[in-house]
Amino acid sequence: MVSATLFVTLLGTITSIAFAAPAPAKSHSTTIAVKTVAAAKATTSAKVTTSAQFNLTTTSVYQATNFSFPDPGLLYTDSDDTWWAYSTSSSHGLVPMVKSADFKTWSKPTNVLSSVGSWATGAVWAPDVRRINAGHFVMYYTARRKTGPSNDHCIGIATACSADGPFTPQTQPLICDLANGGVIDASGFEAPNGELYIVWKVDGNSVGKSTPVKLQRLGANGYDLLGSPITLISNDSSDGGLTEAPSLVHRDGWYYLFYSTHNYNTLGYDVKYAVSKKLNAPFKKVSSFLSSGTFGTAGPGGATAINVGNKYINMVFHSDINGKSAGKGRAMWSLSNVCFNDGIATAC
Ligand SMILES: *[C@@H]1O[C@H](CO)[C@@H](O)[C@H](O)[C@H]1NC(C)=O
Ligand SMILES: *[C@@H]1O[C@H](CO)[C@@H](O)[C@H](O)[C@H]1NC(C)=O
Ligand SMILES: *[C@@H]1O[C@H](CO)[C@@H](O)[C@H](O)[C@H]1NC(C)=O
Repeated sequence: MVSATLFVTLLGTITSIAFAAPAPAKSHSTTIAVKTVAAAKATTSAKVTTSAQFNLTTTSVYQATNFSFPDPGLLYTDSDDTWWAYSTSSSHGLVPMVKSADFKTWSKPTNVLSSVGSWATGAVWAPDVRRINAGHFVMYYTARRKTGPSNDHCIGIATACSADGPFTPQTQPLICDLANGGVIDASGFEAPNGELYIVWKVDGNSVGKSTPVKLQRLGANGYDLLGSPITLISNDSSDGGLTEAPSLVHRDGWYYLFYSTHNYNTLGYDVKYAVSKKLNAPFKKVSSFLSSGTFGTAGPGGATAINVGNKYINMVFHSDINGKSAGKGRAMWSLSNVCFNDGIATAC
């Protein structure tokens, strides 16, 4: 049993680290107002023990962290009604994790990956964690292969028994493609029939080539590769030289592929989406989903969307803290209840 004193201490700690900005939802202002949102502080205690979630009939957008938490991956565990997010390496660790009981206020970051894996060196980019089944969580992440040149990025796998780790990296990478520029930005996907998949970006722009987004089926353990990869989309002339950060969700008969275009370190970085009614087929690009100015964001990108029990689809993404570039870091933002209607996705 937790003593009253300890409880108060804990609550005090949690309240002081919780960060809840007022929702600038529906503000399609073209001015970049990140600082206004970042400056707002929680005026009430975080409801850390309430499992009641946000109102499903409304869409809410929040700046979720006021520190850098780039390329966030998102996970929801219904056993404990908890939201988890994981970011690219930062001063908070190799893979910083924050969690939330309400998809609004998030914990202080803690590191969940102690080693990048014996095959790799340096930082981790764009981790994504999926629950494969009870007690088996798989992290898909990008790191640089030790033996290769600086653009020899590969997709690695780390596993854990729970969402808060610690994750253990495998000794070999899962996917590499140095000839085409390396591979980055892996993300998991569970199809409605239970089949597991991985999507990723071929980092062709590192060698002046195109940047196909690939899909491949996985085995029941969440990491054995089955069959061959297919290309879902690639960069065209409106994409500023690249398509990356893919994230795939299914809703009402449509597959939606969110992705980013342009250099992440510019205000041109954005979130677009493409759709298909078939998973193993090329996707059709539809339109932009988030770009600088939407909700007061700056260079929004690196989004991860997840389908929660087929009830709603929530997303996290990052936006530049200084309102101009990635230089001062990229804060995580959350967007609840994305609207989908017959192949069209909107922030409602
Ligand atoms: C970030 O949020 C925490 C918690 O509300 C606050 O203590 C801290 O001053 C904030 N930092 C910045 C740079 O706004
Ligand atoms: C959710 O939001 C809608 C629209 O603002 C409101 O009508 C409804 O009462 C809210 N539901 C709950 C449970 O708060
Ligand atoms: C895709 O990106 C590459 C590398 O930046 C570029 O060379 C190529 O022309 C782009 N493809 C299209 C169709 O614009």
